[in-house]
Amino acid sequence: MLYPGTFDPITNGHLDLVKRASKLFDEVVIAVAHGHHKKPLFSLAERVALVEACVRGMPNVTVIGFSGLLVDLFTAQRASAVLRGLRAVSDFEYEFQLANINRELHPDFEAIFLPPAQQYSFISSTLVREIAKLGGDSSKFVPPEVEAAFAQKKRDGVI
Ligand code: COA
Repeated sequence: MLYPGTFDPITNGHLDLVKRASKLFDEVVIAVAHGHHKKPLFSLAERVALVEACVRGMPNVTVIGFSGLLVDLFTAQRASAVLRGLRAVSDFEYEFQLANINRELHPDFEAIFLPPAQQYSFISSTLVREIAKLGGDSSKFVPPEVEAAFAQKKRDGVI
């Protein structure tokens, strides 16, 4: 099972989904997208390292970085399906569009959607980044590794 996203940075909501998926599927490959279109705060290498640190100890979960089309990664990984989180109805339209365009590009493309636990339904990486930038407490929303990474970005004067 391939779980793609920008993960800028990974949040407790993403991790909730990874934990659910790791119980449902034999293997979960978290695919961290380069995400050119989003101008990420964390570099691809930093995002991959953060995800790796957060899933350490989950034996059937691995992490890779990728750029290019998701369908090409899907083929290269011989994935059976792609997992995406659906936090609210508002996510559905975008996810439906993404699944359909990917299936148009690759007829075998399959998407599976899982809702995260309700307490994570309002978390997004953008909001968490904003909280960190403005000096708020992000500890409820992100794992300690990400909190430490935000602190480092602050010390570096990046945020
Ligand atoms: N808990 C908390 N937040 C969640 C979440 C969950 N369970 N699931 C999604 N989100 C949030 C993310 O934090 C993110 O928030 P943000 O927009 O504020 O950053 C948002 O929902 C969606 O981001 P993410 O899940 O990281 O996906 P994405 O939309 O950034 O990336 C890709 C989607 C990587 C799958 C897509 O861009 C892609 O396939 N890229 C490769 C190129 C390609 O093939 N494009 C499609 C064909 S045209």
